[in-house]
Amino acid sequence: MDGSNLGTPDIDRLVAAARVAREFALAPYSGFKVGAALLSQTGAIVTGCNVENASYGLTVCAERVALLKALSEGERDFAMLAIAADTEWATPPCGPCRQLLWEYCGDISVVLANLTAVTGRHQLKELFPLPFEPRTLGPTG
Ligand code: THU
Repeated sequence: MDGSNLGTPDIDRLVAAARVAREFALAPYSGFKVGAALLSQTGAIVTGCNVENASYGLTVCAERVALLKALSEGERDFAMLAIAADTEWATPPCGPCRQLLWEYCGDISVVLANLTAVTGRHQLKELFPLPFEPRTLGPTG
């Protein structure tokens, strides 16, 4: 399932969860709070927010927090990701997050939102068209 069969109530629920998660962001350095919500095929919603650190490079994005939480809770198959930020424009996932999402979620639907509206909807394949992935490592990878 790639998320294309999900209806407006699923999307609204997921976007609402991402907005709530954003409230928990620890972003004292950038002031840029992000929330993410991942919908699994079991119907579970797992959320994440960005967590910054005084050693800036240790910052973890909201999407990665949500993904790692979900995987560590045993979720394996995902349908959709929502990302929320307080911007007029769409806030898409960063490059490293796209890499991680591709490996564990495949071609999921990615819904971008601000605090009041959905600002974009994409398939991950569109955002990450030529992935480095397990098969790139070859038969012994
Ligand atoms: N950030 C995310 O959480 N997700 C993204 O997709 C892009 C950026 C966070 C990292 C950092 O805490 C802040 O936004 C500014 O880059």
